[in-house]
Amino acid sequence: MVESMTKNIILDLDTGVDDALAIAYALGSPELKLIGITGTYGNVLMQTGMDNDLAILDLLGAPDVPVFPGIPHAQESDDFEVLEISKFIHGKDGVGEVDIKASDRKPEDTDAVDFMIESVKKYGDDLVIVATGPMTNLAAAIRKDPTFKDNANIVIMGGALVTPGNVNAWTEANISQDPEAANELFRSGAKVTMIGLDVTLQTLLTYKETQQWRDLGTQAGTFLADMTDFYIKAYETTAPHLGGCGLHDPLAVAVAVDPSLVTCLDINMKVDVEGPTRGRTIGDETRLNDPEKTMKVAVGVDVDRFLKEFMSRITSVAESK
Ligand code: RIB
Ligand code: CA
Repeated sequence: MVESMTKNIILDLDTGVDDALAIAYALGSPELKLIGITGTYGNVLMQTGMDNDLAILDLLGAPDVPVFPGIPHAQESDDFEVLEISKFIHGKDGVGEVDIKASDRKPEDTDAVDFMIESVKKYGDDLVIVATGPMTNLAAAIRKDPTFKDNANIVIMGGALVTPGNVNAWTEANISQDPEAANELFRSGAKVTMIGLDVTLQTLLTYKETQQWRDLGTQAGTFLADMTDFYIKAYETTAPHLGGCGLHDPLAVAVAVDPSLVTCLDINMKVDVEGPTRGRTIGDETRLNDPEKTMKVAVGVDVDRFLKEFMSRITSVAESK
């Protein structure tokens, strides 16, 4: 039997500028087949994020990819409100307050958690789930289907092991939205690769690169450039020492395509859910000596190779649309 060269991928997104770039990266990767996007909350309300997903899929020439509604707030909360800092970084609409034509399509009736569970059953090792928002949908899938954790391959953007957080000294934004869900995922025994701030803040984009998309003279190129410039500008205020914006979510997709882009520490992790360090991602002392390590935490990244892949894949999507 000839082994299929393409891997199915589900993106679990709170779209968001870098989530939008993650969609573009996935669509620009011939190794991947994007079988669906599942909605979560964070940078924006879940509904806004799904509207962005549908509009971006249309713009980038993928109007058949379905979008599934997830859980719109943290598991221990009844609702969710977008933080002012998220509006500052991603814009009130999540896409840098840049015009994009709304899609005629609507999200599916099937919910995100069921779609993830069914897809893992159907594709097994030929599927990777990349989550770049809070882990609420993944934790719900683990709770709903006892076989999910044993069969799912998961890459997340979230957390920080050896660098400070971006919400406070120890908490990264995606984890901070729902620490209980992330802790459930981390301690479940599921195969998870954590792409945290340790590596994503080493992969930076500047106006020089976005100008290359603008120079394509296409609708998609102009949209991606203008949207990303809003995000770079926000980083000039929130993290001026970096000299660019963090490519958090696209790096997680890139690792799903090519794990050799990062070097990882094999370690069983947990998330602090109580006390002053709530939201901290750290080694789980109760499972530190387990011979089996189910998580990999990226601690090094081949920055040059990733940036080259990033530019060529996104440009390939933007140049024809
Ligand atoms: O901390 C960065 C993460 O938080 C990214 O996924 C960004 O999109 C936001 O969700
Ligand atoms: Ca995100």
